[in-house]
Amino acid sequence: MPSTQTHEISAARRLENIRYAIRDLACVADELTRQGHKVVPLNIGDPLNFDFQTPPHLIEAVYKAMRDGKNGYAPSPGIPVALEAIRSEAARKGITTVRDVFVTSGVSETVDACISALVNPGEDILTPRPDYPLYSAILCKLGIALNTYDLNEDDAWQPELADIERKLTASTRGIVLINPNNPTGSLCTRQMLEQVAELARRHNLIVFSDEIYDKLILDGTPHIAFASVAPDVPCVTFGGMSKNYLVPGWRIGWGIVSGEAAAVKSYTDGVQRLLRARLCANHPEQYAIKPALEGPQDHLVEVQRKLRSRRDLTQKWCEATPRVSCVAPRGAFYAYPRIDIPESDEIFVKELIRQKHVMVVHGSGFGQKPGTQHFRIVFLPDEQTLTKAYAGIAEFIRERYRG
Ligand SMILES: Cc1ncc(COP(=O)(O)O)c(C=O)c1O
Repeated sequence: MPSTQTHEISAARRLENIRYAIRDLACVADELTRQGHKVVPLNIGDPLNFDFQTPPHLIEAVYKAMRDGKNGYAPSPGIPVALEAIRSEAARKGITTVRDVFVTSGVSETVDACISALVNPGEDILTPRPDYPLYSAILCKLGIALNTYDLNEDDAWQPELADIERKLTASTRGIVLINPNNPTGSLCTRQMLEQVAELARRHNLIVFSDEIYDKLILDGTPHIAFASVAPDVPCVTFGGMSKNYLVPGWRIGWGIVSGEAAAVKSYTDGVQRLLRARLCANHPEQYAIKPALEGPQDHLVEVQRKLRSRRDLTQKWCEATPRVSCVAPRGAFYAYPRIDIPESDEIFVKELIRQKHVMVVHGSGFGQKPGTQHFRIVFLPDEQTLTKAYAGIAEFIRERYRG
């Protein structure tokens, strides 16, 4: 006799703190869309939602791979031709002590594999505050307590070394750098990278350097890879195709392991065991990695030109708007203005969507120093769309806070 009682299947308790504010806000926007309003999405970092197109030769490469029958499972670490192209890219980035490379389904999977292969219960890794929320989500999933270090807004959002020193414990195994940074758009200085390397050496840490935006530098300065500054320090450099090559839906990322061979051997074996267990990354898309890294880079000139113009417009608006101030972004396509308001930035953002139909993400969704409020802008839309959206935000601030 089947039971008529419903027994709820509950989700694991360790998931309770997993938030992804960038997409969680979608419920508020959906409500407005159902009412017939058009919401301007300044919340999701997908260039393909705007006037950016995937370079055609990359589409051709994947199409050809599919036609050539590359539709079965790929080798777990990635196809040899892609691995070789990533090694050459590492050399161009000045990384001289490469010990291993592997391809994943987006940098998201690199992050998951690299953290999962490192931390035991009771250990931790240092993540930046504010951070890209995937890091804290994966740590929550693993049941690992967060240990965050602050980025210093008064120092162009550089990591706050004193805070890192304060937060380090005997159980700290690694440190995450996001450079160029999401959500702040900042770049780490060479001196900062050297100082972090020194800390890593002293405390026996591995550095996870997320450089997914390394070709989207907006001020003409070269990007400095952490592993090029500290070839001896155990490091995994995260890179991928989503942003630089305008294919976030293809889900292609990679990890480049560097450092002293003996120091990283056992850890790298662990990562490879995990990669075998999950079979492989998307197969046909891996055939676009070599043409992306070694073929024409013309699209980058156009992407950087558009982003520079949109960054400048964003920065001017921030400077001209009462209650708003912003450290000028130098890379990626995010601005992270501070806002001086008498309520939480989450309320600010939700009311802004409801009243002006402009969607940004609240600073509390990324973590921030207590007592400060921010919001993240994705400045991917064209100048006309941005100008209109910023006029809406300025009007909202004027009406809600009287100036
Ligand atoms: C800093 C950072 N790392 C990783 C990712 C995830 O990238 P992917 O699309 O390769 O999974 C993102 C996506 O926005 C990001 O901003």
